[in-house]
Parts: sequence; C-alpha cells; structure tokens
Amino acid sequence: MNIYINEKSNTYIETLIVGLPEHINQLRDIKYKNQSIIEQLETLKQHHIIGSSVGKISSTLLYINDQPKRLLTVGLGNLKELSYQRLLKVWGYTFQYLKQEHINEAEVLIDTFMSKHNDVVEVAKTLGLQSEQSIYQFDNYKSDKKAPYQPSIYIQTEHDEIASDINEGQQLGMSINLARELSQMPPNILTPQYFAEEIEGHFKDKKVSVDIKDAETIVSEGFGLLHAVGKGSVNGPRLITITYNGGKSNDAPIALVGKGITYDSGGYSIKSKIGMQTMKFDMCGAANVVGMIDIIERLKLPVNVVGVIASAENMINEKSMKPDDVFTSLSGETVEMLNSDAEGRMVLGDAVTYATQFQPQLIMDFATLTGAAIVALGEDKAAAFHSHAKNEINSLLDIAKSVDEKVFELPITDTEKQLIRNSDIADLVNHTNGQGKALFAAAFITHFSGQTPHIHFDIAGPATINKSTFKGPKGPTGYMIPTVVEWLKQQCQ
Ligand code: BES
Ligand code: MN
Ligand code: ZN
Repeated sequence: MNIYINEKSNTYIETLIVGLPEHINQLRDIKYKNQSIIEQLETLKQHHIIGSSVGKISSTLLYINDQPKRLLTVGLGNLKELSYQRLLKVWGYTFQYLKQEHINEAEVLIDTFMSKHNDVVEVAKTLGLQSEQSIYQFDNYKSDKKAPYQPSIYIQTEHDEIASDINEGQQLGMSINLARELSQMPPNILTPQYFAEEIEGHFKDKKVSVDIKDAETIVSEGFGLLHAVGKGSVNGPRLITITYNGGKSNDAPIALVGKGITYDSGGYSIKSKIGMQTMKFDMCGAANVVGMIDIIERLKLPVNVVGVIASAENMINEKSMKPDDVFTSLSGETVEMLNSDAEGRMVLGDAVTYATQFQPQLIMDFATLTGAAIVALGEDKAAAFHSHAKNEINSLLDIAKSVDEKVFELPITDTEKQLIRNSDIADLVNHTNGQGKALFAAAFITHFSGQTPHIHFDIAGPATINKSTFKGPKGPTGYMIPTVVEWLKQQCQ
C-alpha cells in the first residue's frame, strides 16, 4: 500500500476517512480544508447514519466547500478503552472495507483517531501494520487471480513525526506476509530444498547470510535425528542457518530455531486422513523465524541473531524410520524413536544442539509441535515453556499481551524430565503414551540446550486460523513475529 504523509494528491480524492468515538463530546473540532465538519458528523451520528461501535464502518455523502465526498467513518468506541487490539480492529476493518469496495485512493484524517487517552505511536504503528497484514491475499495458484490491491492512502496529520512509526508497522506487516507466503505454498513445491533456496534467494541482497547443509552433510556432521526424519522421503532434509549481525561483534547472539517439516504424514505412525490435511503448515515455525529475521533486518536492529531451521519431509518409504529404531543425535546421545509422528522434537533436538554451538544468550524455538497444546489452551493460544530463562519468558509474555498475541506458560517438571529417559535400551525416548504430551515434547527439546537459556513456543494452534479476522484471511498467521520483534527492540534500548 502506498502511504503518503501530508502530501497532496494531484487528483481529486473522493473518499475521506474519519474516526468516530462513542461520545460525541470526545471529538475535537475536526477541520477539513479549513471547514469544520463536526456539526455534520454530530447530525449524522444522531440520526444513526454513522455508528461508533469499535471497527464499524459507515459510508455516507458529505459536502465540503460544495464538493461531494464519500465520508467513511470508523467507529472507535469509548476513547478511554481504545487499546492496541481495538486499534488493530479499527484499521483492519477500514482497509478490508476499502479493498472490498475497490477504493483506490483515500484521505485519512488520522488525528481523529488520536486522543489524550492513547498513544500517537500506537495509532500510527497499527495503521501501518494493518495496511499490509489485514488485506493479505494468496492466489498464486488460482486461474482467476485478483489484481493486487495497491491503493494510495493520503494521511493528513499535525504529527509529522509519525511517518517512521507508520513505516515500521508496514515493514512488520510485510515480514508477516512473507512468512504467510512461504507457509501457504503446497508441499509438492515447497520441499526442504526449495524452502532453503527460497530463503537464500530472499536474503541474497541483504546483510543476512544463509548457509544450507544438504542431506549428505547432515549425515556426515552427525545430525542423526534430522536425518532419521528426513531419510524417508525422496526430498531430502536441509539444515538452514541464517545469520544477521547487527550488534557488536562480541555480543552473544539470540538463536531463533524453527520446525520446518514441509509435510507431516506422520510416517509409519501414520496420521488419519483428516489429521493429515493441512500438514503442509508444519513448517510455520520455520517460516515465522524467516519472518522474524526479515523484520529484524528491515529495522536494522542492533542485535546478533542466528536462525536455525531444521527442514524435512516426514514420509513413508522403505528407508523411513520405524517405531523401535534407535538414532544417535548430534549431541551424541541415543534416542529410541517410538512414534514417527513425534518428528518435530527429533529435528528440533538436533537444531537446538547445533544452536548451542553459537553460544547464544537465549534460544527460542517455534514449532507446530503438539495437538496436546491445542487441547490444553485452545486453537488461538500458543504455549510457552522455559528452561533457565525465567526473566526472559516473563518479559516475553508481557510483550505478547501488549501486541495482541495470546501466549501462556506451561511447566516442564521433573516428571517430564524423567519420562524422556524412559527407554530400556537408549538414553532418551521421543514419545510417551501417557498424558501431558505437550510438556513431554517441551522437556525433550529443552534437554538439548542444557544450561543455555531456552524458551520453547508450541504454536500448533495459532500458527494458522480457520476463519478470516481483522488481521487477515484464514490460513497462516505469522504467529510470534510481532512479539519477538517488539521484545528484541526493547532489549536494544
Ligand atoms: N505436526 C504435528 C502437531 C500438530 C497437530 C500441529 C495438529 C498442528 C495441528 C506433530 O508432528 C504431531 O504429529 N504431534 C503428535 C505427537 C504425538 C505423536 C506424541 C500429536 O500431537 O498428536
Ligand atoms: Mn507429527
Ligand atoms: Zn509435525
């Protein structure tokens, strides 16, 4: 979306967008082209032609200096309660309306969305974010593609300084859409190799380096768990390392680890035919790590980051791993593989071991890991677990709330730490038949980070959504990207 701030358009713009609060006395005197429009707004509101409930869009005709305008009002509710989430709704519904009505140019009196009760920066940032995120569309594989929607939005404001905040929001939206784009690709196209090459191509002209280990290197360097999962497919596994150094050379990096299973059939512990549908989305954790590094690079944050993506296709052939097999992990420990559908923790075990070699200050991993996390928290919440990272998880949970992401902590206790050792013949097992499967998986993955601070995010539920919302269409969501970038920004201050 093209956004212009305090710039005049060469053409006459028909549409004017104004924020409308619940209490008309909360409206400041609104001037457009030196003419007050507040009386007209009051009259329209009194006659219920325009409405003020949060995100309500009303369209009506307004004359300004004898010229007809399409007035779009956007309900703001009670200004005292205009939270970050409500602002996301307000802008999301606004842009979705513009798109649906094919409105290609509009002026926004953004100051009408501001009041003494809320933060100018939030108004600007949410506008920028939603101008990209809320109207995302994916129709690469449709014959009747919609023309890309590229409207021009002219923002009128007394606060020139918001330009950078709007821009930052837009950048974040683009990074989320990048993650969505990768996630939506069908698994016959987006194989581990293709995924790796897409990432390499994306960062080619940026200050981000991408290193790809192919299947042979994965074997020769001892990634036994990643290899075990990947060897059952003709599309071999890849270990992708993405490095961004924006910090001082001796700053310990933050490691972002992603589960990149490009298809999860379950392997010999095969999924049901319903359970298998949508399992192309089993690489959303990895796609979101790509999105995170993308926004970190766009904002040139002064941090060092290393992304580690473990990508494989969990399939069935004569070489596939089978329940009862034992594999040696990169850490040197042996794992008895009792359920081939518990493949995520296998590839992540090796990826986390590898990440520790960069001596990071913190490892965060993102994975569509367990149905059990969905059972525990519902489809709309992520589960977070920590190992030696109490302060970090607390600040991340606070930030998640502030950027409207739902993340809740679950524990890793001695029970799970024992259960992962419950093998008669190997050091570890990848599966328990008992309950608490999300906790078991978390204990398994964090085992490989040892004493390094580590937060594990199980995003099996919110990585995708099955209905459209003010944040965009159904499908992948880019979950955790907003939280992680905001947290990193605050760490840099
Ligand atoms: N990718 C799945 C988890 C998943 C399930 C993500 C549903 C999104 C929606 C994971 O690899 C898996 O199969 N987990 C199993 C683990 C079990 C075998 C211990 C599960 O949750 O059933
Ligand atoms: Mn699985
Ligand atoms: Zn999986």
